[in-house]
Amino acid sequence: MRKLKVGDAEIGILAHMLHKVDFFSPLTVGQMEQVLPYILVEAFDAGETVFKQGAPGDAFYIIYTGQVEVWFKKGFFSLSKIVATMNPGDFFGEMALISRDPRSATVACVEATQLFVLVAADFQFVLKQNPQAAAEMDRIAARRKFNTSHLPES
Ligand code: CMP
Repeated sequence: MRKLKVGDAEIGILAHMLHKVDFFSPLTVGQMEQVLPYILVEAFDAGETVFKQGAPGDAFYIIYTGQVEVWFKKGFFSLSKIVATMNPGDFFGEMALISRDPRSATVACVEATQLFVLVAADFQFVLKQNPQAAAEMDRIAARRKFNTSHLPES
């Protein structure tokens, strides 16, 4: 993984792009300006893992370019299964930040992928500014949790 620099020049482009991401679109320009300096961009190679199931959660991710797969392993003797494939604009990593549980699944890059990264404190800041986005995020996390927990054992 390589951390990409988000310079002043890129911040304008970033702001424009983020407005198209559902999670950020309700933010006012002022709120957006408060968050923007804290958004990181990380670049991953094809096949690289972003994080593993069971790891502690410290950040929230939105796909900028590329594609990731979400792999879930139910028990020690079970095989891992793909529970979701995600594309630009999709997000992941919210469950561990909301529940404070470890990562519920492994996320790996299918192709070269760039991710916007918000560390936990900045993610909480955005949710605090946006009770509507927070409620929607809770709903999505609950639905994902339900889907993975109802997978068969093998
Ligand atoms: P988190 O538990 O922090 O880390 C793994 C992430 O994978 C999780 O947050 C969700 O963002 C995502 N995830 C887990 N289960 C599913 C699912 N069934 N469908 C889509 N995404 C999921």
